[in-house]
Amino acid sequence: MDVLASAREKINKVDREMARLFSIRMEAVKEIAEYKAERALPIFDAKREEEIIRNAASVIECDEIKAHYIEFIKSNMSISRSYQAELYPDALSMGGVLYECEGIKRIRVELSENSYDIILGCGALSLAEKYFDLKRRVLIVTDTGVPREYANAVADKCADPYIYTVEQGEASKNISNFEKMLSFMAQNRFTRTDCVVAVGGGVCGDLAGFVAASYMRGVDFYNIPTTLLSQVDSSIGGKVAVNLGGYKNTVGAFYQPKCVIVDPELLLTLDIGQIRSGLAESLKMATTSDAELFEIFESGSFLDDIGLVIERSLLIKKGIVERDERESGERKILNFGHTVGHAVESLTGMLHGHAVAVGMLYVCSPSVRERLLSIYDVIGLPCRAEPCADELYGFILRDKKADGSNITLTYVNEIGKAELIKMPIEKIKDLL
Ligand SMILES: NC(=O)c1ccc[n+]([C@@H]2O[C@H](COP(=O)([O-])OP(=O)(O)OC[C@H]3O[C@@H](n4cnc5c(N)ncnc54)[C@H](O)[C@@H]3O)[C@@H](O)[C@H]2O)c1
Repeated sequence: MDVLASAREKINKVDREMARLFSIRMEAVKEIAEYKAERALPIFDAKREEEIIRNAASVIECDEIKAHYIEFIKSNMSISRSYQAELYPDALSMGGVLYECEGIKRIRVELSENSYDIILGCGALSLAEKYFDLKRRVLIVTDTGVPREYANAVADKCADPYIYTVEQGEASKNISNFEKMLSFMAQNRFTRTDCVVAVGGGVCGDLAGFVAASYMRGVDFYNIPTTLLSQVDSSIGGKVAVNLGGYKNTVGAFYQPKCVIVDPELLLTLDIGQIRSGLAESLKMATTSDAELFEIFESGSFLDDIGLVIERSLLIKKGIVERDERESGERKILNFGHTVGHAVESLTGMLHGHAVAVGMLYVCSPSVRERLLSIYDVIGLPCRAEPCADELYGFILRDKKADGSNITLTYVNEIGKAELIKMPIEKIKDLL
């Protein structure tokens, strides 16, 4: 027998054996789904999946094969979840995540009015017309740094698309662009039944969302976040705004999107600094609200599974927004690190997430700071910024977040447990 025929014979034999083992595995998967459905337990269990990957990988000695085997196991787990979804569609919503098709998940943000879905998964962008109503005039807002094919992909699915491109960067989140975009919509005869779609990072989302909230007292708004930061944080929750006079988000509204598509594949074109910035926002949520996600950061396993980081961050934010849509209480904890962070960002031009990372270090206990710093080391986040304490204090004094002579800060004494502290504004000098 020649080499080829003999190798093929081996593969056939292994495939038959694997098919037999696969059936046994799926039987076990079914039993687990049954057990969990009866007890209303969530199907997705991040810790258990990590453990399976660790155990399975330890069996393989050759490093080159190990990496491929991990991919194989991950795809096996994804197939198992889809199978469980077919068997018990309702049970899968227990953890807040519904399984749609082909690895696409649906996370419902339940609000008293205007609830909406987040559609999460690789390739979700191509499903835009399934989840968005694009059979009308559509203003697609993007910026010069976002690969044009993303906006084009949406435009191809619209009945009457208009792509509006702003210059990339925070400076575009301004009143002048806001006004120009409203005029553009009026000139092109957009009506109340038309809609706006953001295709970009937090800058596009905040700007486009505020335009949608304002045009004719509000038109439908959809968001397709294309940076990690906007996928884990800014695209959900309905905060839309522009900056004014050098101060961030001074003019804005709470305006919920109709639907959000989060497609991690769009991050493949994003540079590493922006990935770090998004990881910082996710780490912020882990620090205030999810000790388990924090451990995923500490273990370094987040580097292998950005999808998991996105999903868990979205679930944290969803829960908080559902409980406090208008930021009258609990939601303020998501401003962890932002008082100093906004000052650093505005004074230095540092990326938002990096500035927030610096800001977090001022408002936590020494033990939390130490744990954060070791994660910053792995991610590559800054632990200090140039402006001196006086400059930072001067900026914070003028910033809108100060409420009269007091300021409310989020403080984290213990991972996963944040508290709001109201203090006289001059007290902040001690922290700085
Ligand atoms: N609304 C909220 O709740 C909320 C929460 C957090 C932050 N924000 C705001 O979000 C903004 C920061 O957002 P950001 O970090 O996404 O920055 P950003 O929107 O400026 O995007 C960062 C850069 O990445 C480029 N880019 C975007 N997608 C890309 C892709 N897929 N491939 C290659 N390049 C791409 C952009 O052109 C830009 O140059 C800030 O204005 C901040 O205030 C809002």
